[in-house]
Amino acid sequence: MSNDKNLIEKVMEKSPYKFINQEFIQKLSVLIKSDIEEEKIKIIRANLRKISTSALPIKFYKKFEKLEFSEEILKLHRSTRERLPVYQELIDKIKEFNAQKILDLGCGFNLLALYYFKFIPKYYTGYDLDNAVVQFVSRFASEKKINAKLECKDILKTEFEPADICLCLKVFDAIEDIERDITKKILEKLKAKCKIIIASFSNISLGGRGKLKERIWFEKILNQLELRWHKEALGNETFYFIKI
Ligand SMILES: C[S@@+](CC[C@H](N)C(=O)[O-])C[C@H]1O[C@@H](n2cnc3c(N)ncnc32)[C@H](O)[C@@H]1O
Repeated sequence: MSNDKNLIEKVMEKSPYKFINQEFIQKLSVLIKSDIEEEKIKIIRANLRKISTSALPIKFYKKFEKLEFSEEILKLHRSTRERLPVYQELIDKIKEFNAQKILDLGCGFNLLALYYFKFIPKYYTGYDLDNAVVQFVSRFASEKKINAKLECKDILKTEFEPADICLCLKVFDAIEDIERDITKKILEKLKAKCKIIIASFSNISLGGRGKLKERIWFEKILNQLELRWHKEALGNETFYFIKI
């Protein structure tokens, strides 16, 4: 156990890994076969980058506790920035579902985007592994008096509360990479808690050059679970609108 503690501390020595949920790092470390500590640290960090905890520049981690809020902040987070041209359309669709309660898995800066695109949910719950993001968005919610709860939790281990809509934007690719069939388990849990799920996947690779394949595996799971769904490409993302 003390070896594990040491390893986790070493992984967390550098940004952007400093604020990641420790239990999650522990979980990753168990999945890695190597006995060489340096190698383990490298692989854990690479996995953390894969799940996009590094969607923010290092400078964010140095000043997030004091950073002032403005619309410009939306450009700091890679996913939020890439989605700027289509947020309005996405929010119009969310409004059509008359959603009051929103659950957001791997939330990133979504609450800020909703706010700056003039949609303030009646109640919002967001989970993310990155505690810097969680603290930052919590401070935003409290400053803007938004009824929101943000928690630094692994969505694979969280009991969700009921909601009208669950957002799962750009999260499934990465978590599936780490633990096979986990997407299905999450969708099964959501089936009992939400009326609508909106999931999305990027159509371009991290470097922005290559085009990514369609997620046939995801569509198979939706069909196995007998969910009604349709998909739409908006900007560089494919969105799945799933009705329970
Ligand atoms: C690509 S970013 C997308 C952020 C946001 N959903 C968006 O689309 O703008 C993926 C986010 O999911 C979070 N994440 C990944 N795996 C997670 C897990 N198991 N539990 C909670 N959050 C997770 C990461 O920390 C990161 O903020």
